[in-house]
Amino acid sequence: MSTGLLHLHNLLRWVIIILLLVTIFQSFSKKQGLVKSSLYLLIAAHITLVIGLYQWYFSVNVGLKGFIERMGSIGAIMKDGFARFWVVEHFLGMVIAILLITMARGKAKKLNFGAASWLYIIAFIIIMVSIPWPFRPGIGRPIFPGVH
Ligand code: HEM
Repeated sequence: MSTGLLHLHNLLRWVIIILLLVTIFQSFSKKQGLVKSSLYLLIAAHITLVIGLYQWYFSVNVGLKGFIERMGSIGAIMKDGFARFWVVEHFLGMVIAILLITMARGKAKKLNFGAASWLYIIAFIIIMVSIPWPFRPGIGRPIFPGVH
C-alpha cells in the first residue's frame, strides 16, 4: 500500500504544479474559469495532504515513527539534515502552501483575482522549494518512481 500511496503522492505533485500555473494565469488575466480550476486544485491539494499526513508518520524510510525508533529522540532528528527535511521542512512548507491554496479558493470563488493571484504565487514558490527535486543533495528523489 505504501508504494501505491507514494506513486499517487508523486503524481499529484504534477497535477498541483500544472493547476497552480493555470490558476496563476487565470487570476492575472481575470478569467471566470478560475472558479472551476481553483476547486480542482483544492481537491488535489487536500488529497495530497491526507496521503502526506499518513506517510509523515508511517513511511518506512522517512516517517517520524521510524526515525524515532532508529535515532531515539527529536533532538537527534533535528541535527540530521535528511531526517529534518522529511519531519519538518517538507511537512511544514507543504502544509502552509495548502493553507494558502485553501484561502485562495475562497478568493477565487468571489472572483477576487488580485488576492487569489498573490496567494497562488506564494504557494507555488513554497511548493517548488519544498519538493525533494532529484538535484537536491542528500534528499533528492527521482522525478518518476523507479526512474533514476
Ligand atoms: C503540495 C503538496 C505536496 C507536494 C507537491 C509533495 C511532493 C512530494 C514528492 C515529489 C515526494 C517524493 C515522491 C517520490 O519519491 O516518489 C514526496 C514525498 C513525501 N511527502 Fe510530500 N508533497 C506534498 C505534500 C505533503 C504533505 C502535506 C506531507 C505531510 C503532511 C507530505 C509528506 C511526504 C512524505 C512523508 C514523503 C515521503 C514518503 C515516503 O518516502 O514514504 N507531503 N512529496
